[in-house]
Amino acid sequence: MRQTRLGSFTIGAIAYGCWRFAGSTPAEAQEKIETALDAGMTLIDTADIYGYGEPCGFGGAEAVLGEVLAASPDLRDRMVLATKGGIIPPRPYDSGSDYLISAAEASLKRLRVEQIDLYQIHRPDLTAPVAETANALDTLIASGKVKHVGVSNFTVAQTRALQAHLSAPLVSTQPEFSAVHQDPVTDGTLDWCSETGAACLAWSPLGGGRLVTRDLRDERERRVHAILARIAERLGTDISNAALAFILKHQANVVPIIGTQTPARIRASAAAAGLDFTARDFYDIVEAWRGVPMP
Ligand SMILES: NC(=O)c1ccc[n+]([C@@H]2O[C@H](COP(=O)([O-])OP(=O)(O)OC[C@H]3O[C@@H](n4cnc5c(N)ncnc54)[C@H](OP(=O)(O)O)[C@@H]3O)[C@@H](O)[C@H]2O)c1
Repeated sequence: MRQTRLGSFTIGAIAYGCWRFAGSTPAEAQEKIETALDAGMTLIDTADIYGYGEPCGFGGAEAVLGEVLAASPDLRDRMVLATKGGIIPPRPYDSGSDYLISAAEASLKRLRVEQIDLYQIHRPDLTAPVAETANALDTLIASGKVKHVGVSNFTVAQTRALQAHLSAPLVSTQPEFSAVHQDPVTDGTLDWCSETGAACLAWSPLGGGRLVTRDLRDERERRVHAILARIAERLGTDISNAALAFILKHQANVVPIIGTQTPARIRASAAAAGLDFTARDFYDIVEAWRGVPMP
């Protein structure tokens, strides 16, 4: 698979996400992780909150990944390991220094690793002083517990405010981005990535699955789906890979994080990074979303 940059790391152009993987048995989890790594998806993204509300509870997704890593330590060297902290129901967010440092330490324990490669603030805490959040992130890096830091679901202004207080560079932002959620194209997120060299880790790149299940929300999404279907047919691929190719076509460093729990679909998704998706295809999807031709 084509490679790209995340801070000091080289990663595959498509990443694998562990949100839906919290209820997996260790054997199932191992199969999914090995399949993703074998397919070239070397960035593995999880979060401490994944599993909350399910029988395994808060930390469940990290814990099962930790079991996989304990059973097969060689897998640790093959991946760039990303997790997130800062959501704590019912508060619901805490980016205060004491909490963030203890949350990262708890993630390290559950994941059974010495260092987290990318630690992301999951959602902005509007009550935590930004300088304190920045200090916690710099402290985590200085202690060696974390290699790089990033944000998720931050506006560009929130990202810049945090960066202004941080010594370390934010190497990533993680927004929702797909053919049916195109805000990062216009809200400055992708331009901030181009400005700084950060990666845009795109969550729910298939709209959480509705682009493939056709559980579409409105006329606008149906328009996008119809164009994706036409492009997929021309390229000899499926809607899923056409949807991934759409966000990969943006000139910024966009890394879709896929979330399927089906090993065959993980494997098949890797081909999206090699599709001959044209600029015209890209603009057709943007126009379908906007409902008007490009000016
Ligand atoms: N930062 C954040 O706030 C945030 C929020 C959400 C997600 N994320 C990250 O993004 C990752 C991906 O999110 P996501 O899971 O919503 O991504 P997604 O890839 O958009 O959606 C995955 C869903 O699509 C379904 N799907 C895929 N291919 C299919 C097919 N051919 N037919 C039917 N269903 C299909 C999957 O079902 P199957 O499992 O049955 O294939 C799964 O339920 C997460 O794991 C997490 O790492 C981050």
